[in-house]
Amino acid sequence: MNIVIVKDYQELSQKSAEIVEDQILVKPDSVLGLATGSTPIGMYAELTEKYKAGLLSFENVKTFNLDEYCGLPTDNPQSYHYFMNQNLFSQVNIHPENTYLPNGNALVMEQERKAYDIKIAEAGGIDLQILGIGVDGHIGFNEPSDEFSKGTNVVELDKSTIEANSRFFEDKSQVPRTAITMGIESIMNARKILLLISGANKKEIAHLALQGEITPRVPASILQNHPDVTVIVDEDAWQLPV
Ligand code: PGA
Repeated sequence: MNIVIVKDYQELSQKSAEIVEDQILVKPDSVLGLATGSTPIGMYAELTEKYKAGLLSFENVKTFNLDEYCGLPTDNPQSYHYFMNQNLFSQVNIHPENTYLPNGNALVMEQERKAYDIKIAEAGGIDLQILGIGVDGHIGFNEPSDEFSKGTNVVELDKSTIEANSRFFEDKSQVPRTAITMGIESIMNARKILLLISGANKKEIAHLALQGEITPRVPASILQNHPDVTVIVDEDAWQLPV
């Protein structure tokens, strides 16, 4: 694991955007795995600036998002479809038909989860997967569990995740209780992984995930077994827990 400690959120956003930029410059038809949440917002803003400055083109890029809530219409501002349109897709020259998110409103979830894994495989697999991390160690919406999940699956969200994500909703009761997420195996199949960790509320989980035991109770700890992971962590998140 290559752990890069940066001063603050701004540097985290710049450095992570540079890594995505390099990936697209080396392989213009890259398949990117994308994350939502507050952490990558600055990175998407930096990528948008690079596109607007003519430094970067998404013309041939394909993207697969990690996850989506179940039961939220895609035009709900809290849906991840909406988030991605706002923060990236509507800002750059990516073709909408090259952007994929799991469908949290599929009539038959069993079909949707299989179909999503097939689409990723048909695209040739993910070249670079962006990840955030939850305070409980989740990646995507893979919550602490007795075993690491495999492909795309439907999950019940943990109390701590509902609590953390309630800041985006009017009140906690509006946070969906279930979500569809790429599985741990889908994430580990990515050729490269970029994990972003920012803020003092992540300092305990950052150390547990990166330096602790590899266990499905801390889903992100599995990343220690991946051959090509870069972690960008800011100083607030890397202070040793007292
Ligand atoms: P955050 O979420 O970036 O909003 O902290 C990360 C996550 O839950 O994966």
